[in-house]
Amino acid sequence: MVASSAPLLLLLTLIHLLLCISADDFLSPGSSLSVHQELHSPDGTFTCGFQQISPNASTFSIWFSKSTQKTVVWSANPLHPVYSWGSKVEFNSDGRMNLKDYSGQNVWTNNVSSPDAQRAQLLDSGNLVVKGKGGITLWQSFDSPTDTLLPTQNITAAIKLVSTNRLLVPGHFSFHFDDQYLLTLFYDEKDISFIYWPEPRASIWQKHRNPFNSTTNGILDSWGHFLGSDNATFTAADWGPNISRRLTLDYDGNLRLYSLDKVGNWSVTWMAFPQPCKVRGLCGLNGICVYTPAPACVCAPGYEVIDPSDRSKGCSPRVNISCHGQELEFISLRDTDFLGYDLSDHHFVTVNSCMEICLSDCNCVGFAYLEGTGDCYPKNVLLGGVARSTPATASTGTMYTYRELVLATRKFKDEIGRGASELQKNEDDDVKMALGKVIRVLAEQLKSDDSDQSWIADFIDTRLHGQFNNTQARMTMEVAVSCLEEDRGRRPTMEYVVQMLVSVDEVSKTVVG
Ligand SMILES: *[C@@H]1O[C@H](CO)[C@@H](O)[C@H](O)[C@H]1NC(C)=O
Ligand SMILES: *[C@@H]1O[C@H](CO)[C@@H](O)[C@H](O)[C@H]1NC(C)=O
Ligand SMILES: *[C@@H]1O[C@H](CO)[C@@H](O)[C@H](O)[C@H]1NC(C)=O
Ligand SMILES: *[C@@H]1O[C@H](CO)[C@@H](O)[C@H](O)[C@H]1NC(C)=O
Ligand SMILES: *[C@@H]1O[C@H](CO)[C@@H](O)[C@H](O)[C@H]1NC(C)=O
Ligand SMILES: *[C@@H]1O[C@H](CO)[C@@H](O)[C@H](O)[C@H]1NC(C)=O
Ligand SMILES: *[C@@H]1O[C@H](CO)[C@@H](O)[C@H](O)[C@H]1NC(C)=O
Ligand SMILES: *[C@@H]1O[C@H](CO)[C@@H](O)[C@H](O)[C@H]1NC(C)=O
Ligand SMILES: *[C@@H]1O[C@H](CO)[C@@H](O)[C@H](O)[C@H]1NC(C)=O
Repeated sequence: MVASSAPLLLLLTLIHLLLCISADDFLSPGSSLSVHQELHSPDGTFTCGFQQISPNASTFSIWFSKSTQKTVVWSANPLHPVYSWGSKVEFNSDGRMNLKDYSGQNVWTNNVSSPDAQRAQLLDSGNLVVKGKGGITLWQSFDSPTDTLLPTQNITAAIKLVSTNRLLVPGHFSFHFDDQYLLTLFYDEKDISFIYWPEPRASIWQKHRNPFNSTTNGILDSWGHFLGSDNATFTAADWGPNISRRLTLDYDGNLRLYSLDKVGNWSVTWMAFPQPCKVRGLCGLNGICVYTPAPACVCAPGYEVIDPSDRSKGCSPRVNISCHGQELEFISLRDTDFLGYDLSDHHFVTVNSCMEICLSDCNCVGFAYLEGTGDCYPKNVLLGGVARSTPATASTGTMYTYRELVLATRKFKDEIGRGASELQKNEDDDVKMALGKVIRVLAEQLKSDDSDQSWIADFIDTRLHGQFNNTQARMTMEVAVSCLEEDRGRRPTMEYVVQMLVSVDEVSKTVVG
């Protein structure tokens, strides 16, 4: 057995050697890299080659060799994958790299044209470079990142990270310098674009940013410390040398710093949003982000999911509200907030006046109303919805006040009454699913006799900074779970879900107070 397998091994090794371009692991002018060939960085950390994204489609990419998922950090033309057979990258004598599909169609080029091109090489930093005479860099992949920055890679004014999903399809989020030289996270979707990090409502001093430096540069060092010319700064929890790291703008809009462990798994060592629902726009138009405790999207009452496989596409209205001749009712969502898009703002008004203001404007789809101060904000777009949002300023003297958001939905009467109850049922099902998830997780946790009670904190508002009584928190959860189990037939409304979440908060508050 052993004797017969040895020649086979040798043969395989030989084939492998023949397939790999050379022991030096670089491309010389006039050579090419086929789909089954790879370039490796000298220390083996990175690999460059064709990464299969579906049975027949591959991208020319760079990835971490030792990560279990072969995490891609760069791709030549992610929107135009090539056929997994017969495609190649040519390295011409003038330093130009051409990515060619099996048909010979050029899908990407690095645009180099130099009489001095000497080699294309993958560096230990994960940078694919074309070098000329005297070691000068003619082109580098570091200048055109996709969704990831590596240590020592600069982010400059010309560079933009865009969130992508597993198939490298771009999402709605991007990371780049804004026109005031600040490193910023943006949400972009058709006619809508806004900044969600740093917190747009904070002053420049609260942001700890320096807006007066027009240098526009930022860099993550190998120890895990990021510093931008605008003073944007953060540090990995495992700050130190000799760790593989990456800074990625994930598909959910969160900017995360990752470290690779010994078995090839990634762990998050810093993120822009420890509470992911605060990534405004995560649930798209008319969507609301709720913690279950993992963030999940539900539609605002009266709206339905556009694409169940991608909740960032948001929700569309079940019924278009025309301006006149419809009877409307408002549904209130306590402790929920939507971002901006205020048609106007009013102060010291009653809820009823606010409602009238909204009804009198055809563009108004709902309004935010702040109890206590009587602030009223009619809105024409519902975006960035989040349940259990940031506490409003303590204007009422209580510890937390909540924005009460009231949404306009159509009120069905008489002859179409049956239709209405049908709609209501679907709506509740969406909410029920999210709630059901919370309840299942809770019930499971409560049943387990685990002495480790740290999970409780996941269900408690982070604003309490862990200052709550575990026993009391647990008690409330038990009550909540048992109530829901007994009343299986009753469909909870969106308002009820949010109120249930708030009630946990109320108890914790009592404990603190
Ligand atoms: C891949 O290509 C082969 C040959 O062209 C074809 O038969 C097959 O259906 C393709 N598979 C997919 C998943 O597209
Ligand atoms: C190369 O040049 C073309 C045309 O100017 C441009 O569209 C393309 O983005 C460039 N490619 C790179 C990698 O810079
Ligand atoms: C990053 O920027 C610094 C300062 O501008 C420069 O010295 C360095 O060469 C750049 N690094 C890369 C990989 O381009
Ligand atoms: C830069 O950021 C650090 C840390 O956030 C902060 O302490 C410092 O005050 C900031 N400097 C300026 C000029 O904003
Ligand atoms: C501007 O940023 C550059 C690069 O990060 C830094 O070297 C320089 O000191 C900064 N200037 C000011 C005035 O902060
Ligand atoms: C980091 O790696 C270098 C080179 O391999 C080694 O000399 C050094 O001791 C390592 N440092 C730590 C803290 O492991
Ligand atoms: C690494 O990740 C894999 C897949 O995600 C998981 O099955 C495995 O348990 C993880 N290993 C460790 C040591 O965390
Ligand atoms: C609402 O109006 C839009 C645009 O006019 C249309 O595409 C959509 O189908 C309408 N929805 C319903 C439920 O009628
Ligand atoms: C937590 O609440 C329980 C029940 O109300 C009480 O017996 C216990 O002393 C409290 N623990 C702390 C640390 O306050």
